[in-house]
Amino acid sequence: MTDKKTTVYPSSSFAGAAFETLHEIVAKARQNLSQNAWDYIVGGTETETTVRRNRLALDQIAFRPRVLRDVSGVDPTTSQFGRTLRLPVLLAPIGSLEAFHEEAAVPVARAAGAFGIPHMLSSVTQPGLDAVADAAPDTLRLYQLYVREDADGVDRIVAHAIERGIAAFAFTVDSAIYSRRERDLAKRHVTSGRRYVGGQSFQASFDWRSIERIKKKFAIPLILKGIGTAEDAKLAVEHGVDWVYVSNHGGRQLDHGTGAMDVLPEVVAAVAGRAKIAVDGGFCRGTDIVKALAAGADLVGLGRMQCYGLAAGGEAGVVRVLELLEDEVRRCLMMLGADRLAALERANLQPAAAVNPPGVLSAFPLLEIPPYRY
Ligand code: FNR
Repeated sequence: MTDKKTTVYPSSSFAGAAFETLHEIVAKARQNLSQNAWDYIVGGTETETTVRRNRLALDQIAFRPRVLRDVSGVDPTTSQFGRTLRLPVLLAPIGSLEAFHEEAAVPVARAAGAFGIPHMLSSVTQPGLDAVADAAPDTLRLYQLYVREDADGVDRIVAHAIERGIAAFAFTVDSAIYSRRERDLAKRHVTSGRRYVGGQSFQASFDWRSIERIKKKFAIPLILKGIGTAEDAKLAVEHGVDWVYVSNHGGRQLDHGTGAMDVLPEVVAAVAGRAKIAVDGGFCRGTDIVKALAAGADLVGLGRMQCYGLAAGGEAGVVRVLELLEDEVRRCLMMLGADRLAALERANLQPAAAVNPPGVLSAFPLLEIPPYRY
């Protein structure tokens, strides 16, 4: 076969030579990080039940494959924000990326650009919006804000982000207050999230009227990240929000929440095609991504996977994570009989019993990282 489209093996980046599987990247990240930085990635809030439910929700779905369809030209690309994306994924916003790499968000933004997917920059990571825009001007850039200013301050930030060429603006709405991260508290380790107290009342008082104001004032596509119910998804649509982003913050905010994938169907039904839908929380493998797409999501966010790639190999490490996920997605699509994302359907999914105890790393059964605690 000479047709390039039939090749399912990922082209190798620099790190490709070193990493043949995703769990090797996770193991390398663990090796490169201090216990504090590692706990910052893998940890959740309080009992970490929501973290585990994210995985459980994904594991409780099995595939129903269709066969004898021509999948030789399998194509996992999609079109969003006016651009073609190589995979239906985005790099989710991560605060304090400087904990994993000296250049913080820069290699992540460059990796997104090099691979061909969007990067959502967090407002609480180094080196900030302007430096990232300068370092990765061609990347499809989104910006996420925690509200720590009054209305005028927020408006100034939105206006500046638009000036710097972002494709959409996101508010994270699941963080009215910073949660109790017991991995940090038990060690008396003070992260920048915990250290920050000034301005918290602005986030706590941010409400639907604020969304209405911003939507009226700015033409930029608006994303609400952290929607967890059909009721709020419906309100978002009624407020003209362009993207409903289903997320429980990777289990790092409200404990004893629902697995993100368990919430997705009710949100898809409530939105009813009136807005785009993104989802994140526990997505570690190509099969996870395909499940969300078949259930009606338009994009899947990667949080911790991006951190492992960055800590393991900088920009090339993040690109390698994406290459391996792309390979897994392509193979999964072909074995489901879907030659493109639009060929996926709900009928490709069915409820099933999970076979592994769920955990933040349970998607990697071959991963061994003793003697560290995870
Ligand atoms: C996050 N997340 C996050 N979300 C956000 O809106 N702004 C932020 O600054 C951060 N910071 C952050 C740091 C770290 C270390 C992690 C792991 C996560 C949440 C993130 O965007 C995303 O919602 C989750 O990470 C998705 O779950 P997975 O993919 O990590 O399981």
